[in-house]
Amino acid sequence: MGKLDGKVAIVTGASKGIGASIAEELAKEGAKVVVNYASSKQGGDAVVERITKAGGKAVAVGADVSKPEDISRLIEETRKAFGGTIDILVNNAGVYGLTPLEAITPDEFHRMFNLNVLGLLLTIQAAVPHFPAKGGSIINIGSGAGRSGMAGMSVYSATKGAVDTISVALGKELGPKGIRVNSLNPGPVTTEGAADYAPFFEQMKSQIPLGRIGVPKDIGTAAVFLASDDSSWITSDAIFVAGGFH
Ligand SMILES: NC(=O)c1ccc[n+]([C@@H]2O[C@H](COP(=O)([O-])OP(=O)(O)OC[C@H]3O[C@@H](n4cnc5c(N)ncnc54)[C@H](OP(=O)(O)O)[C@@H]3O)[C@@H](O)[C@H]2O)c1
Repeated sequence: MGKLDGKVAIVTGASKGIGASIAEELAKEGAKVVVNYASSKQGGDAVVERITKAGGKAVAVGADVSKPEDISRLIEETRKAFGGTIDILVNNAGVYGLTPLEAITPDEFHRMFNLNVLGLLLTIQAAVPHFPAKGGSIINIGSGAGRSGMAGMSVYSATKGAVDTISVALGKELGPKGIRVNSLNPGPVTTEGAADYAPFFEQMKSQIPLGRIGVPKDIGTAAVFLASDDSSWITSDAIFVAGGFH
């Protein structure tokens, strides 16, 4: 008997990295999972295959969650695949990049804010009407950078600070519907997308009390906690999974 038996979950940006691990960990606990991707159909299909082989249920759905029309389709395809309701939404899709002050451009600002902030808000807006009357859990993947701010990453840090604030505000707004909203904030985690940051992560290692860089499963298992009834009195909050690094 899994902690998420019978639940339907959407994980955005789940074709690789942290999102893929979240999808797999939710499925291990019995959730039926929609594995969203933007362009890596192959990656999405591979995650679905791993889940299915392990005895779980999943489908891959391609949708750019910075685009309202794609978000609507993602919600509709979820409902078609697994019945009417959505119990768990994990907003994980995100982009990051170095933007020292002199390199900030309107295009780069909008690329990050359109997905990390606006896309997250619009996905929540589209999903909430399909949560059951008893509520559910929304998990927004932020970052340690949202609180600490990273030199050379002011735009990215600002998007993740916004994710924390949105989680607090929407936790209050959606609490009466029984929908919990929290941010889950990783420290440095080795992923496909973060491969270029490996030397930088190595430098950070000496400042991480638990002495290692994170792996996607560190975040996946924390997401199970926030998705399940084990966290039934936690909302409008932020959990940091970062080996003690702040
Ligand atoms: N890695 C870290 O150290 C770290 C630390 C703190 C926070 N985070 C946060 O954790 C999340 C995942 O990071 P990661 O390192 O696992 O990233 P990643 O390896 O680059 O994977 C990103 C995922 O997001 C998807 N994606 C990108 N743009 C999308 C869009 N417009 N619509 C739908 N999906 C989209 C990608 O799909 P395609 O493959 O199809 O493009 C991919 O599945 C992000 O929100 C990131 O900010 C990461």
